[in-house]
Amino acid sequence: MIIEPRTRGFICLTSHPDGAAAHVKKQIDYVKSKGEIKDGPSKALIIGASTGFGLSSRITAAFGSGASTIGVFFEKPAKANRPASAGWYNSAAFEKAAAAEGLYAKSINGDAFSDEIKQETIELIKKDLGEIDLVVYSLASPRRKHPKTGEVHSSVLKPIGQSFENKTVDFHTGEVSNIKIDPVEKQEDIDNTVAVMGGEDWKFWIEELKKAGVLAEGVKTVAYSYIGPELTFPIYRNGTIGKAKDNLEGTVSELNDLLSEENGKAYVSVNKALVTQSSSAIPVVPLYISLLYKVMKEKGIHEGTIEQMQRLFAERLYAGEGVTLDEQGRIRVDDWEMRDDVQVEVQKLWNRANSDNLEEISDIKGYRKEFFQLFGFDFDEVDYDKDTNELIDIPSISS
Ligand code: NAI
Repeated sequence: MIIEPRTRGFICLTSHPDGAAAHVKKQIDYVKSKGEIKDGPSKALIIGASTGFGLSSRITAAFGSGASTIGVFFEKPAKANRPASAGWYNSAAFEKAAAAEGLYAKSINGDAFSDEIKQETIELIKKDLGEIDLVVYSLASPRRKHPKTGEVHSSVLKPIGQSFENKTVDFHTGEVSNIKIDPVEKQEDIDNTVAVMGGEDWKFWIEELKKAGVLAEGVKTVAYSYIGPELTFPIYRNGTIGKAKDNLEGTVSELNDLLSEENGKAYVSVNKALVTQSSSAIPVVPLYISLLYKVMKEKGIHEGTIEQMQRLFAERLYAGEGVTLDEQGRIRVDDWEMRDDVQVEVQKLWNRANSDNLEEISDIKGYRKEFFQLFGFDFDEVDYDKDTNELIDIPSISS
C-alpha cells in the first residue's frame, strides 16, 4: 500500500516500514561510527525497547558492545491496508539488522506491567541467555493495570497547587497561544500518575528477575528521568509527572539494596528533552524543545536519542572509573541542555516567541521533521510514492 502520514493532534495514526528501517539504520550507523564501547553490556533486557530512548538503548547495547538483547514493548502489528505502529516496524528493522551481524535479538510484545509478560520474559532469558547483565527500564505509558490489584491507573499531566499559564505551540501550524492548565484537583490523580510512571513497576521487574536467578554478577539497571528548566517546572518537575519522577528516582536506593548480593547497581539517568511520542503530548514542552533545538544546534551540541544513549553508555555507565553522579545520586546526560549559556538563550527566545516569528527564531521545522520521522516519514532516502508491504513481521515474534 501507499502509506501517508495521518495525524490527529500530537498523534500520528500511520507509520511507514521503510522509513522506520531508515531511522533504525541511521541510529546503528551512528553507534558504529563511535566505535566499540569497552566492557559494555553483553546480555541486555530493554523494557520499552521499540521507540525513543529505549530503542536507542537497545541499538547502543547491540551495535556498540555486541550485546544480545531482549526487547519488551507494546505495539500493534499491521493488518491488510492498516500499517503497524512505528515501534513494531522499528523492532522488525532492528531484529533484521542484528541478525545480519550475527547478534542475538528477540522481542516480546505485550503489557510489561503485567505478571504474565514478566514471566514470559524470564522464561526466554532462562532458555536463551541464562542471565542478563543490563536491565534498561524505559516505559512511557498513559496508563497501567496494576498486576496485584487489577486497578487501572491513568496518569494526568497537571500542575499541583495552582494553575499554570504560559505559551504553547501547535507544532503542525506553528501557532503560539496561551494555555492555562488548572491544577490537579484530587490527590488520587497524583497517586495514579505515580502508579503509572513512578518506580513500582521497575522494582517489580527487578524483584522477579532476581527471584528467578537470572541477574548476572555486577548487573546494572537504569531508568530515565527528566528535570528541565524552571519555565516548565509547573507542568513537569513540580507537576504530577514530576511526582512520579521523584518516586522513580527514590526507587534507586531500594534497588541497590535488592541487588547487593549480585554486586549490582541501579541508576536513574536524567536525559535531555527530545521529540518522542511521549514528550509531544505534554503542553508547553514542544515550544521549549523547538527553541532548545535552535540554540543547541547553533552551538553544535544538539543530540537526539541515539547520541544521548551512546554517551550514557560510553561515558557514564561503562566509562570504567566509577559512574559520576550528581548530589541526588543521578546520572546526568542533560548536562548540555542545562548549561547556563543554553538556558539563558532559550529564555530570551521564549520571551520573544509568537506565531509571527516562530519559524525564524525557533527550530520548529526540525521539531516537525523529527516528529514525522518517529513514524517513519520525511526520510529523503525513502520513496513514499512507491507501493510498500505493510505486513512486516518481527522475526522473533512471528516465528
Ligand atoms: P516513547 O513513547 O518513545 O517509548 C515508550 C516505550 O514504552 C515504547 O517502547 C512502548 O512500546 C513502551 N510501552 C508503553 N507502554 C507499555 C506497556 N504497557 N508494556 C510494554 N511496553 C510499553 O517514550 P520516551 O520518550 O523514550 O520515554 C522513555 C523514558 O524516558 C520515560 O521514562 C520518559 O519519561 C523518559 N524521558 C523522556 C524524555 C523526552 O524528552 N522524551 C526526557 C527525559 C526522560
